[in-house]
Amino acid sequence: MTDSLRGPQPHPGWKPGDAVEIPHGRWIGLDIATLDPAAGYKLLIGSIVPRPIAWVSTVSARGVTNVAPYSFFNGVASKPLSLAFSITRRPDGSDKDTLANIRATNQFVVNSANEWMAEAMHQTSGAYAPGESEFAKAGLTPEPSVEVKPPRVKGAAVQMECELLKLVPIGDGSVGSAHLVIGKILMIHAHESVYHDGKIDLAAYKPLSRLAGDSYGRVAGVFDLERPKV
Ligand SMILES: Cc1cc2nc3c(=O)[nH]c(=O)nc-3n(C[C@H](O)[C@H](O)[C@H](O)COP(=O)(O)O)c2cc1C
Repeated sequence: MTDSLRGPQPHPGWKPGDAVEIPHGRWIGLDIATLDPAAGYKLLIGSIVPRPIAWVSTVSARGVTNVAPYSFFNGVASKPLSLAFSITRRPDGSDKDTLANIRATNQFVVNSANEWMAEAMHQTSGAYAPGESEFAKAGLTPEPSVEVKPPRVKGAAVQMECELLKLVPIGDGSVGSAHLVIGKILMIHAHESVYHDGKIDLAAYKPLSRLAGDSYGRVAGVFDLERPKV
């Protein structure tokens, strides 16, 4: 299924102990205790790439729907099937709407961000006021979930209905600090064009990743390496 995405293996025939080609130069040590936090953030998002994107839909206590992308994101366990993403503070120190809504309802949906929806997903990252729904701003349709109150994004290839397992504060509450949201997945909806034989078809799925700055990436140059037989 992924043949159209394939590229060459980096070092065919490599054996343990073979010389590794590293560009000429030295390593620059950066002591985080004295580094400006904004510079640290740039290094974090520039070094940890590509990042998957959780497109998180929530609903407020008053019933206003919300959806926004989060790329400090990953899966964390299979029993319970769970994932985590991190919500940083706004530059003025306030909570983002996604965090306020998860605190209010203990529920959220992680929708996939793939090429079908790239521009609409990006549109939802604007700092809209709490009373404004990003669904309307981005021309998206909320679709009722089965197990949770927040709606799914209609048309997103994969939609994961989640309940909050743990909200972990990271830092002292000042700008740059964050909350790690850990969620248990209750239900997954996968479009049949991307889900066959119990697997997600990467070539059909066309996932997007987040890079540094305003850049996004696609999956290409896929290659396989067998697990070492120890
Ligand atoms: C692709 C992408 C990834 C993002 N990842 C994060 C993230 O991991 N954590 C975060 O706090 N904000 C992230 N943002 C910014 C939020 O999407 C943005 O602050 C948004 O306005 C939050 O919306 P909300 O207040 O409705 O929750 C990201 C933005 C984009 C475009």
